[in-house]
Amino acid sequence: MNVVVLTGAGISAESGVPTFRDADGLWEGHRVEDVATPEGYDLQPSVVHRFYDERRASLSRVEPNAAHRALARLEDQLGDRLLVVTQNIDDLHERGGSTRVLHMHGELRSALCRACRGRTPWEHDLADYPPCPRCGVSELRPDVVWFGEIPYQMDRIQDALDAADLFVSIGTSGAVYPAAGFVQFAARAGARTLELNLQPSAGTHLFDDARHGPASSLVPAWVDDLLR
Ligand code: APR
Repeated sequence: MNVVVLTGAGISAESGVPTFRDADGLWEGHRVEDVATPEGYDLQPSVVHRFYDERRASLSRVEPNAAHRALARLEDQLGDRLLVVTQNIDDLHERGGSTRVLHMHGELRSALCRACRGRTPWEHDLADYPPCPRCGVSELRPDVVWFGEIPYQMDRIQDALDAADLFVSIGTSGAVYPAAGFVQFAARAGARTLELNLQPSAGTHLFDDARHGPASSLVPAWVDDLLR
């Protein structure tokens, strides 16, 4: 059985990483146009760097939760028949033990050079405009896919959705495309579809099944069911 799991901010919420669109979410305190578009970066790069530098630094204060660990347990059993596609830019899936993870919206612990387009693992701040380790030019930006940019690895994701028998969406509001459309691709390719989310998402009616509650209990319970 081929399983594709799509995750969003909700899977990391109980680890203490803020979501985007909930009451205390990141988009309550920041304008998307300012910190999550190429135009915002061109206008105020220092503001954008501070926003992502703070979030990168905060990763060392959070830990994966039971939902991340349950997906790693599922990978132990399914191997390359499981693919986790995440919209999250944190590294909690990897620290929870998953290895087959695609970060379609990029990663906080990576920097993208606007001069040579190289991607470099990055732990530190970018606000002080360090040189790119590859080409030496001081044009590093957060390696994060902003609104108006094309997500990473869409071909691989499409292939995985085409081959999926089961598609599971975890902790995402279904507000942002193309990820919000994956459920329909998977269903058309013949997969069963399941939503696991705190509350019904925007596209909850598109799923065959849905379970609502906190990811830290829903995800381990679903993995137990699947492996039984
Ligand atoms: N367990 C499960 N789901 C949860 C939990 C929890 N503990 N807490 C919150 N949620 C759910 C919320 O109900 C909401 O539906 O997680 C979802 C989070 O939605 P968003 O904040 O919109 O996050 P996400 O869907 O990942 O956003 C998609 O938007 O701004 C962009 O690039 C950003 O990748 C992000 C994309």
